[in-house]
Amino acid sequence: MLIVANWKAYIEDLAKAKKIFLVSRKLARETEHTIVLAPPGPFLGVFTEKKQSEVMFAAQDVSATVGGAETGEATAAAYAAVGTAYAIIGHSERRARGDTDAIVAEKLVRALAQGLIPILCVGERERDGEGRYLGSIREELTVALSALLPNERAAVIVAYEPLWAIGKTAAESISVNDLAEMILYIHKVLTELLPGKSSAKSRVLYGGSVEPGNVRMLADNSGVDGFLIGHASADAPTFAALVRELS
Ligand code: PGA
Repeated sequence: MLIVANWKAYIEDLAKAKKIFLVSRKLARETEHTIVLAPPGPFLGVFTEKKQSEVMFAAQDVSATVGGAETGEATAAAYAAVGTAYAIIGHSERRARGDTDAIVAEKLVRALAQGLIPILCVGERERDGEGRYLGSIREELTVALSALLPNERAAVIVAYEPLWAIGKTAAESISVNDLAEMILYIHKVLTELLPGKSSAKSRVLYGGSVEPGNVRMLADNSGVDGFLIGHASADAPTFAALVRELS
């Protein structure tokens, strides 16, 4: 499984960041999972510099710009330069701060141009009885991927993150049946958007209140390829318990 730890802005002190990094490195050695840490940008260079490659790293976002006079922007090239392998793009917390589908598409282009593997977040705000939420997922995927060449689309990892399930508790997260249905639906949309049989290799993750108490249930029988973990990744013992549940 691919387990992406999205630290968001929960971790603000280097000692805590180092602790979770060391625990993650141990977990990556002990288990068959790929563990990707997405720390706040300033911490990235501290870890990637050591070339301890059992753990991989992701940017939480990349700039839509290519560089230049853009104060405060962190470009995909800058992330790639410190050894970052992945980039989370289109997270709902970035969309809430103004990332439109068009900006998300641009960021995908920037990430791929620098060799970063994009983790594209999509997810409905709420569920309605008529299945309109499925249309919104299709729309997000279609607009985001339409900016890419067909062969580039196959490199994108999709993270399904329903907004209503983010930052809650395991009890309020998605049911395994609803997740299985959505994973199938996303794969179906990807077969329409990707060339030939390349969508068969597409990976789809789930994020939204994944905790030690529900991760096993969500992993079994849902068809998911991994998880994007928020709050449960910002505490070393909780994150270790979560990964061990999957092993
Ligand atoms: P959560 O966050 O696990 O805290 O719900 C997931 C995410 O937003 O990526």
